[in-house]
Order: sequence, then structure tokens, then C-alpha cells
Amino acid sequence: MGKNKLDKFYNRTIDQRIEALMTEKYLEQRPIDDFKESLILPEEIANHMIENQIGTYQLPLGLALHFLIDDKEYLLPMATEEPSVIAAASFAAKTIAVAGGFTTEITDRVMIGQIALKGIKDKEQAIHAISAAEEEIITIANEAHPSIVKRGGGACGINIRWIERDQEQDTSSFLVVHLHVETLEAMGANMINTMVEAIKPYLESLTAAKAVMGILSNYATECLATARCRIPVDVLARRGLSGVEIRDRIVEANQFAIADPYRAVTNNKGIMNGIDALVIATGNDSRAIEAGAHAYATRSGQYRSLTKWTKAENGDLIGELTIPLPIGTVGGSIGIHPGATFTHQMLGYPDAKRLEAIIVSLGLAQNFAAIRALVTDGIQKGHMALHAKSLAINAGATGDEVKKVTQALRKAEHMDLKTAEQILAKLRS
Ligand code: MEV
Repeated sequence: MGKNKLDKFYNRTIDQRIEALMTEKYLEQRPIDDFKESLILPEEIANHMIENQIGTYQLPLGLALHFLIDDKEYLLPMATEEPSVIAAASFAAKTIAVAGGFTTEITDRVMIGQIALKGIKDKEQAIHAISAAEEEIITIANEAHPSIVKRGGGACGINIRWIERDQEQDTSSFLVVHLHVETLEAMGANMINTMVEAIKPYLESLTAAKAVMGILSNYATECLATARCRIPVDVLARRGLSGVEIRDRIVEANQFAIADPYRAVTNNKGIMNGIDALVIATGNDSRAIEAGAHAYATRSGQYRSLTKWTKAENGDLIGELTIPLPIGTVGGSIGIHPGATFTHQMLGYPDAKRLEAIIVSLGLAQNFAAIRALVTDGIQKGHMALHAKSLAINAGATGDEVKKVTQALRKAEHMDLKTAEQILAKLRS
């Protein structure tokens, strides 16, 4: 991998980083300006992506380093506006790589489309009629989108759910039919919406009821990704604290996030810091993943931490994260957005299951980094270092000046733009 060649990556200029990636063959050799230009979203493509387009809104794209996932090394492209997130992910991944890296388990990629029926007169008869017509329902769905069947996927089953009338919430009862669809490399929203709309009239005729709607469900409980890691305590020891102490604090912090929804939301937000950044960078729908992940966090009836950190019998720290991850490697903006084209190339063109494995591992790393910081130094120490650097740059520092102003600023009484400007002026005089 030539790991050493990327050492102190954060200390290099952008051009030096790109050059190092080319030398290490993560990127093909080409003029650096060509590479930078290749990441820009052309206006005509942007104009085709949305309505009323007037410009583009850019996010920084960075790389998280040191990821070892199922014995393969990765650099993870992340699009995020938040300082510290990429540094934290890299730091966590480095520790976890020393301990053997992440292992993952990915379920079959089955997405769900829903048709809700209202005004069912005879519940048992309707359920029986739909069950008996399962084959026909699947045929109608697949005929509406034959190309997925040719590629080896398509509708593969149904599930029928009865939702009882809720007087307190003032809701009717619904008979809900779930269509299960193997979407292969696609996230499959369009495909599923086409299919459910095609079977809607048939379900109405079978039940003599009215379909409220047919739509994909973003609660993709049949498309789950799990990442695990196992960290020996000696790898955890840090700054005068023993590995045992840090392990126990991490387990305790996780218990707090499992028990208390107020903490769980922040804990899970930290997980999504990493997941969203990679989901966005790969041209996927971050809102779909966010919505599904948070719903999954409530599956016990209470909103809880998505991660679980426990102590193994031999004392190792064990981490686990499972979330629904209905991402795709084709479709949507993936094939047309130059940033997404680049990130898929950077990851070695993973298939959808592999991409899920990479994304869920990043989420686990992000959580490990956050809670380790929270139970040791707190997160402000690292944040303030990055804040000082950003103030130095905002004050106009360039090249070597950035480091010098940052260092002086961290020792100064007030860490603000005015102080950064004064330090820079003094340095230059
Ligand atoms: C900040 O964006 C994320 C954290 O608050 C996550 C957490 O508290 O676990 C640091």
C-alpha cells in the first residue's frame, strides 16, 4: 500500500497530497490541474439534475486514511463541511487496523415497496386473496420493470401487514402489502415505485378497497449492513490511562447512549457524520440513509444507540454497528456527477454490498473516535486545534505561516480572528 508515503498527509499542501496519491497509484498520473478540474460539476449536468438550477454549492472532499475492512485497505473519500470528522475517522481506523481491522456482514439487498389499502371490509378475505395471488402480483411487478429481471433481480416476494385503527392518533386501519425487490446494484427507488404503481390497481380489484398510495419504503430492514471490530486493551492505552480503563469508559459511555434517547441522538449523529459524508461523496441519497438509520435506532420501542460496545471474555473491546444501507453503485446522480465517478474509482469500483461494508465500517470508526475522545480528553481539544488552523487561514496566513500562526494562537489568551491577524502581522514584520 505504500502507507509511509502518505504519512503526515494532513501536513502537506493539497497539490502534494494529490501528487502522493498519484505516486502511490491511488490516482492515475495526470497534471494536477486536470485532476482538480475533473471534479467540478459542469453547469449543464447540474442543470439536468435539478430544477431551477442557478449554481453549484460545493463541499470539501477529503480522504479518511488507514481503513482495513475485511482484510483490504481503503482510503475513504468524504464530503463534509464539519472539521475534525475526517481526522477522527482516520485516527480511529488506524487504531482498529492495528487490531486487525473491521469485519463486515451484509444481508441480501432486498428493498421494500409499500401499497397501503384503506376501507377493507373483510380483513381475513382480503389477506387470503392477496396471499393466493402472490405469484400474479410478482409477475405484474416484474413486467413493469423487465430490465431488472434480465439482470437477475426483480420482485421476489410479498409480505402482508395489518395496521389497526388507532383512536388516540385518529388514524384508520390499513392493509399494507410489501413488495420485496432485489435491486442488485441500484438503490432502486424508481424501479420500486414503477412496480408498486403497476400492482396497485390489481390489489384494489382483489380487495374491493382503495389504495392510498404505492411507494418505496426507506426503512430498508431487508438490506442491513453490520461492521464489527475487536480491539485488545493494550492498543487502547493512551496518555496515562490504561487500556482497561479506556475500554471500561467506552462501554459505560455506550450504555448511556443505549439507555438515554437524549444521548443516543447525539451518539448516532456522530455515526452519521461519517456515513453521510461517504454516502454523499458516492452520489447516494443521504436523506434515505439518515431516515432509515434513525428509524432502525427505535426498533426496540425506544430510540437507542446504533452501536454496541462490550467487553469480550478475554478483555478485548468489541464494537458492532448495524444499519439499513440501501445505497447503490448505479443510477441517480452516480453515473453523471464527476465527483461520484471519482469516488467510486478511488474505492476500486466496489459493488453495492462492498460499498455497504465500507460505509458501515466508517460509521463504527466515527463512533469509536467520538466516544473515546469524550471519555478521555473531551472533544474540544482536537476541535480547538482545527479551529486555530482555520482562524490562521482566515487571517491570511499561507504556507509555513499557517503552522506558526496556529501554534501561537493555541497559546494565546483569546482564540479569535483578531488575535490571529495580530499574530500574523507580527510574524511578517
Ligand atoms: C459532533 O459532530 C459529533 C459528536 O457529538 C458525537 C458524539 O457525541 O458521540 C462528537
